[in-house]
Amino acid sequence: MSLKIAVLGGDGIGPEVIAEAMKALDAVRHRFGHAFEWGTGPVGGAAIDEYGTALPDSTLDVVLKSDAVLFGAVGGPKWDDPKAKVRPEQGILALRKSLGLFANLRPVKMYPQLLHASPLRPERLKGVDLMIIRELTGGLYFGKPKKRWTTSRGRRGVDTLSYSEKEIERVVRFGFELALKRRKRLHSVDKMNVMETSRLWREIATEIGKEYPDVELRHMLADTASMQLVVNPAQFDVLVTENMFGDILSDEASVLGGSMGMLPSASLSGLPPADGSKPRKSKPALYEPIHGSAPDIAGKGIANPIAAILSAAMMLRWSFGLHTEADAIESAVEGVLAEGYRTRDIAAPSDRTVGTKEMGDIIAGRVG
Ligand code: IPM
Ligand code: MG
Repeated sequence: MSLKIAVLGGDGIGPEVIAEAMKALDAVRHRFGHAFEWGTGPVGGAAIDEYGTALPDSTLDVVLKSDAVLFGAVGGPKWDDPKAKVRPEQGILALRKSLGLFANLRPVKMYPQLLHASPLRPERLKGVDLMIIRELTGGLYFGKPKKRWTTSRGRRGVDTLSYSEKEIERVVRFGFELALKRRKRLHSVDKMNVMETSRLWREIATEIGKEYPDVELRHMLADTASMQLVVNPAQFDVLVTENMFGDILSDEASVLGGSMGMLPSASLSGLPPADGSKPRKSKPALYEPIHGSAPDIAGKGIANPIAAILSAAMMLRWSFGLHTEADAIESAVEGVLAEGYRTRDIAAPSDRTVGTKEMGDIIAGRVG
C-alpha cells in the first residue's frame, strides 16, 4: 500500500518527537512493505514567522492531498502576546475545523512499569483503561461571537458556547459505537445544572441511548467527572464531552499513567468501517500527541517521543485499517518500557534515562 502522509512538526518539541514517529513508521515500511510518501509544510509559530499566518495555504494544500496528517505541536512564548492578532494555535484549530474532525479520541492506558510516575497511589490505577472522546469542531472553541472590545465602562470579552443537535448527535453516537466495541459503558459529561447546551446534550444522549440498549449510559457533571477521574478512574470506559471540557479533562486524565508524554490522540471525521477495513477516502484524519510544544525543554533532546510514536500507531489503525502494523508499534513501546528504557519524564530517581532520539531508535529497532 502506498500512503501519503502530511507531517507537520510545528513548534517546540513538535519536530523532535515527530521525527521519532517517522522512524517508527519507517520501520513499519521495512517490515511490512508499505510505501510512505511524505509531505510537509510550516504550521503554527514557525508559519507565522515565515508567512504571517499559522496555517499557510501551501501547507493546507499538502494536507488536503494526503491520506492522513501526523501533527507535532504548536505555540511558544515568542508568540504569546495576548494582544497578537495571529496565534500559533490558530493553525491546529483551523486544521481541525477545515477537515471536519469532530471526534477527538484520547486513550488513557496504564503501563505497569510506570505506576511509580503517577501522582496517584497504585491501587487506584488498577484496571484503568479509558477513552475520552472530545468534541473537536464546536462548542466554546468555535462559537460566535468570540471577541474583545472596549465599552464606556472598560474592556469586555465574549466567547460563545453553542451546539446544534447534529453536532451533538454525531459525536455522542461515535461514543456509543466505540463503547460497544469496548466495555460497553459510556459516560456523557456535561454541566446540565447550569448550561442550556448541556441540557440539550443530555437530552440527545438519552435519546440516542435508546438505540444502544447494550451500552450502559451514565450522565456525569463535568466538575464531578474531574474529581472522579482521580478518585476512581477505573469506573470509566468511554467518556464523551464538549470541546473545552474534553481539553481540560484529558490533560488531567493523561497524567494518571505517569506523564502527558505518553498520550496519543486521533481526530476523526467519522467512524471507520465496522469490518476493520481501510476507510473509504474522504478528508484526511489527524494524529497528534496531546502534549504541547513544551518550549522549556525544546531543543534539549529530552522530550518523550512515545505520545507521537503511539499517535503514528493510531494513524495506521484508524486511517488505514493496518491493525497488525499498529500492534507492532504498540508492543514495541511496551517492550521497551519493560526493558527499562525511560525518558526523563517517566524515570524513577534510580533509572538511567535516554534522550528523545535514543528512545525513538530503540522503539524503531523493536518494530523492525
Ligand atoms: C490540545 C491543545 C490545543 C487545544 C491547543 C494547542 C489549541 O491544548 O490539543 O489539547 O486546546 O485544543
Ligand atoms: Mg489541551
